[in-house]
Amino acid sequence: MSEAFDIRDILHAAGGRPHDLIGILQTVQERFGHIPPAALPAIARHVRMSPGEVFGVLSFYPGFSLRPPARHVCEVCLGTACHVRGGAAVAESFGRALGVSPGEASSDGGVELKTVNCLGCCAIGPVLRLDGRIEARMTPSSARDLALGLGTDGRKT
Ligand code: FES
Repeated sequence: MSEAFDIRDILHAAGGRPHDLIGILQTVQERFGHIPPAALPAIARHVRMSPGEVFGVLSFYPGFSLRPPARHVCEVCLGTACHVRGGAAVAESFGRALGVSPGEASSDGGVELKTVNCLGCCAIGPVLRLDGRIEARMTPSSARDLALGLGTDGRKT
């Protein structure tokens, strides 16, 4: 296991049975912002599961991620109210500007694009949330401009 992802203290403090897995994954993700793939064999050995079984558990829960968090996270709403006002075109335009599809991060890890079902502000849709800030009444054009404003490597320009 890489020195950068040393989890020996986490495993030492945790139980070593399959039902301890979720708690271990949560602690590892809190520390590193993701579950380092290199840590899976050690976690699996500790809870007496196969690495494939551990992978199956962590991929079942959307809160766990095997890759480091992107510097910018864009969540485009595709709930009913936003969808009927063009939410899909907003997501497509944002993604095309950066070369990413929903569920992906840009190749440099700078921007991640997600789609969500409702952000709780349907009256001002279509909306997206960029780094926690709601952007209202989006259009494909405004979404493209917002994406390009992040720069192709995800840095604000
Ligand atoms: S459907 Fe988009 S905010 Fe509710």
